[in-house]
Amino acid sequence: MIYFILSFITIYFILDYLSFFGVFGVPGSNQVTIKCLYQYYCSLFDTFQKPSIQNLESTYNNDYDTVYGYCCRQLFNTFIQNMKNDINYTNRTMNIGVSPIHHTSFRDILEQNFAKENIHIFDIDENYEKITIPEEKKDIDYDIIVITHLWGKYLDITDIKQNIKGAILVEDVILAGEYEHEFNNSADLLFHSCGMDKRPSSLFGGYVHIKNNDDDRFYIKEHMLQSIQELSIPTKREVFKKTFDCTLLYLLYNVRCIQNMVKLFLYVRGYKLSDIIQQIRKNKPGFEHSNYMKEPTKLMIDTNKSIYNTQQDTEKLFIKNNKLFISQFTDKEVAVLFPWNKDFINTNSHISCLPYNAVYIDEKYQQRCIDYFDRHNICIINNPTYKTFDHANIEVKTFLDNIFYLPCLYNLTKREIVHLSKYLKNIKNN
Ligand SMILES: Cc1ncc(COP(=O)(O)O)c(C=O)c1O
Repeated sequence: MIYFILSFITIYFILDYLSFFGVFGVPGSNQVTIKCLYQYYCSLFDTFQKPSIQNLESTYNNDYDTVYGYCCRQLFNTFIQNMKNDINYTNRTMNIGVSPIHHTSFRDILEQNFAKENIHIFDIDENYEKITIPEEKKDIDYDIIVITHLWGKYLDITDIKQNIKGAILVEDVILAGEYEHEFNNSADLLFHSCGMDKRPSSLFGGYVHIKNNDDDRFYIKEHMLQSIQELSIPTKREVFKKTFDCTLLYLLYNVRCIQNMVKLFLYVRGYKLSDIIQQIRKNKPGFEHSNYMKEPTKLMIDTNKSIYNTQQDTEKLFIKNNKLFISQFTDKEVAVLFPWNKDFINTNSHISCLPYNAVYIDEKYQQRCIDYFDRHNICIINNPTYKTFDHANIEVKTFLDNIFYLPCLYNLTKREIVHLSKYLKNIKNN
């Protein structure tokens, strides 16, 4: 046995020395703490507590209150259902103005609840950072505007704010910039997720900041609290399954030797790394698609309130690592590989809190690129997060099809970040 273990360790280190394991990291992140996992496991031995109405909300500041949910998509769906049932809208069709790119869950909720004629897609500029209203959509009477911020920074929505009056402004700020700037647009609702890869990072939960409005037509907060209280809390089985899956992902994402062993196993069995990652991303509950209309337990809310202030440190880490990675590329390369970061060239002050490592790869290089990364045992996956609407124009669809995710940078060393950039620069030569 001892000989077997020693030979195994020797082979492992030889393979490591020969760079067989490529670059560490996967196209997803998991910043959940061991303490948080431990608390959820312990809670399985106790009765789950339903939160009181006081638990479900808190005062954020003079202008905003916060409501806590089971996840962000639950909160958004609850908001949309409540608006549809609102007395002000029951006898007429609602018009929704949207930025063109959203998370799959938000896109699905909008498409399931409104006809495509009533979902009006705004334009995004060629740098993918400014949202404008197309000429022919300027005279529409909008009821709700939904903007999803992208690229770990805030989109410029000045045009929307100046030209649309009276609509409820909703912002998905999960993948936006530093959280202290999130109130700059004075949005009516700001949606957050506390998923394992978000800021702040936990296992369950999300929250929404809701503006205290003089406009008492909608009672958004009150209706939201009432609707959440009518939902059932998750079963122990559901909490166990998600906690267990998250633990597995935690080990796979964050422990080098485990990740390397999995790569070795896949190689020996003849599997393509990119295919396996795509499947994990599709099927694992960290990325759950259904059965989310639940009420959070008291533990979920208490946990998320207690980690609220960890956001800043996570942001600093992402900004530092993203900056290092991007600064390895020439201006020309940045414009091609990260077109949403062109302002970095002008200002030389790249500030992106994006947890993912997104890169644009033109269709003609895609297969070559996937094969190249597979050959070097480096993870790559076709964009699983950013989606557009069925009736969006072909340019946006093609653009999203050309986005790929490389290993996230949050747990890479400086050397590994530089190393990864070299692989990316090499694509054209291979
Ligand atoms: C931009 C964005 N919006 C919405 C969501 C949905 O959040 P949740 O998983 O908490 O429902 C996510 C989650 O990944 C996201 O990245």
